[in-house]
Amino acid sequence: MAEIRLLTGDDANEFWDFRLEALEREAEAFSSSAEEHRSLSLDEVRGQLGADPATSFVVGALEGRKLLGTAGFYREKGLKTAHKGHIWGVYVTFSARGQGIGRDILRALLKRAASIDGLEQIQLSVGTTQTAAAKLYRSLGFEPWGCEAKALKVGGCYIDEEYMVLNLDRLRKTGKAAR
Ligand SMILES: CC(C)(COP(=O)(O)OP(=O)(O)OC[C@H]1O[C@@H](n2cnc3c(N)ncnc32)[C@H](O)[C@@H]1OP(=O)(O)O)[C@@H](O)C(=O)NCCC(=O)NCCS
Repeated sequence: MAEIRLLTGDDANEFWDFRLEALEREAEAFSSSAEEHRSLSLDEVRGQLGADPATSFVVGALEGRKLLGTAGFYREKGLKTAHKGHIWGVYVTFSARGQGIGRDILRALLKRAASIDGLEQIQLSVGTTQTAAAKLYRSLGFEPWGCEAKALKVGGCYIDEEYMVLNLDRLRKTGKAAR
C-alpha cells in the first residue's frame, strides 16, 4: 500500500521528475507546461516544497521514495482573499490508477486544509476532457460554478475548463469528503 504524506524539500528531485512526467503525459490536464517546468531549478522546487507548509503544501503517494501520485494546495495571501485556497497538480501515474490513490491523496489534502483556521473554500479548475478527475472532485463534494471556454491552448487545440468549489463549512459539518 502506498504511503500518503506531505512532501518536503528532501523530495525535490523525485517531485521535479514526477511533475515533468505529468506535464508531458497529460498536457491537456494542466495549465503549466513541460517547457516551463524544465526551466525550474531543483532549488526552486525545494523552496516550493519547504517554504510554508502551513499554507502551501504538496501531498504525495509514495512506494519507498518512488512517487505514484501528487496533489498541491496553496492558500491565497491577500487580506481580502485569504479565505480561499486552491488545488493544483493532481496526478496519479498511469500504472497506479484505479486503486484509490487519487482519492486517498485528496482526502489527506482536504483534511489538512480543513484544519487551517479561517480557510472557507477550496477552488480548482478541471479541463472538460478530464472526466475521471471531474468525477472524483464531485464525489468529494466539489460543486461546479462556471465554465471558461478556450481556457487553455495546447498544441493548437483549445481546452474548456470547469471551475469547482468546495465549501469547507459544509465539509467540516458533514464530513462529506471522507468517502
Ligand atoms: C484523476 C486521477 C488523479 C484519478 O486518480 P486515481 O488514483 O486513478 O483515482 P481513484 O482510483 O482514487 O478513483 C477515484 C474516483 O475517480 C473517478 N475515476 C477514476 N478513474 C476513472 C475512470 N477511468 N473513469 C471515470 N471515473 C474515474 C471515480 O469517481 C473514482 O471513484 P470510484 O472508484 O469510487 O468510482 C487520475 O486519473 C489522473 O492522474 N488523471 C490525469 C491527470 C488529471 O486529469 N488531473 C486532474 C487535473 S485538474
